[in-house]
Amino acid sequence: MVKFANRMTNLKPAAVYELVGEIAKIEAQENRKIVPLYVGNPGKESIPTDKIAEITAEVLSDEEAVKTLLYGPTEGFQPLRNELTAYLAENFGIGTPSDRIIITSGATQAIELCARVFCNEGDTIITENPTFVGSLGSFNGFGINIVGVSMDTDGINLDKLEEALKANPETRFIYVIPNFHNPTSWTMTLEKRKRLYEMALKYKTMILEDDAYRDLRYFGEDLPTLKSMDSEGIVLYAGSFSKVISPGLRVGYLMANERFMDKISAAKQVTDVHTTTLSQKVVYGFMKKYGLEGHIDEIRDIYRKKMQLTFDLLEEHLGDKIEYVKPEGGLYVYCKLPEHIDVLEFYQKGIDMGVAVVYGSAFYVDPGEKSQYFRINFSQPSEAQLKKGIEILGQVMKLFN
Ligand SMILES: Cc1ncc(COP(=O)(O)O)c(C=O)c1O
Repeated sequence: MVKFANRMTNLKPAAVYELVGEIAKIEAQENRKIVPLYVGNPGKESIPTDKIAEITAEVLSDEEAVKTLLYGPTEGFQPLRNELTAYLAENFGIGTPSDRIIITSGATQAIELCARVFCNEGDTIITENPTFVGSLGSFNGFGINIVGVSMDTDGINLDKLEEALKANPETRFIYVIPNFHNPTSWTMTLEKRKRLYEMALKYKTMILEDDAYRDLRYFGEDLPTLKSMDSEGIVLYAGSFSKVISPGLRVGYLMANERFMDKISAAKQVTDVHTTTLSQKVVYGFMKKYGLEGHIDEIRDIYRKKMQLTFDLLEEHLGDKIEYVKPEGGLYVYCKLPEHIDVLEFYQKGIDMGVAVVYGSAFYVDPGEKSQYFRINFSQPSEAQLKKGIEILGQVMKLFN
């Protein structure tokens, strides 16, 4: 009889990723289209396909082409590591002389490596609750005890965090998404960032800062990252090119103090040897030839417009029926339904009528936890799809009045 490893007990496919398959199935079986307001993909118009094609061709025709297709160093393509180190330091004040970068297969792998390197089965980590489902999967996959701490609209609730730290003195790290959090899009205030860092020092734990959305700010000023405050080398910093160039290239990174690097690198080596060199060279070529800043400005303009359109449409079709905090960036709007509406029922009616959002309970440490929220993604749908999708949500809402 086949026996699965214990670590698989709590590892289930995440509802958000499952929806992709489920919705494709419904579309095929019922021969109809469902407006996609669910997955955090970039919009078609913001992926620089022509430039990627051009750089790929160049990379494969230069004298290093064969090397690109051989095994490479586990830590990543050195010119990309250098370029990224400079980009993070110049633009965000991130990194000290004791920090190092390892290129990973998306931020997902950066997070998975932290779980792999720092946690035994049964060890505790603390996360914001709700949080990014991919990370929950990584933590569950290692049999880690995940303690969820609720969020306020200005970030993790620090009183509850302190209670959790007192109750779990051996906490391995605190996992947070301070900028344009997924799913809420809420951003942690500077005051909270400073207090969180102090708390981690006080309780002798580390912080895993997931900054996948850092570059996607459309209004207001950038806030200092936890990593930029990290005089003691306790912040593990995960980033990604998924949201600004392409998720399919699978290029992300982990910045950590040099004293952790040998173990992190050894862990990555047994996972995938190294991140695809071709993808790394494409990202590097893009940064050198076109510059990341200019491209990010362009996509910020696109998403700022789409986010504003989303606010206008929500106002027009759902008006005072829902509550949400207007984010200053990111890819989502996190909407709260009135108490009398069952979110799963609302979601299901949406699918029946032709629009898919994600119900809030999909993002909780305990998937059985009730949530009054649903998440809308505004980057992937076209403006026409946004208009159609949110109009349908308005019709769904009328069924519950
Ligand atoms: C908060 C957060 N972290 C990490 C990721 C994973 O990104 P990547 O494609 O770089 O693995 C996502 C993707 O949606 C995310 O929302």
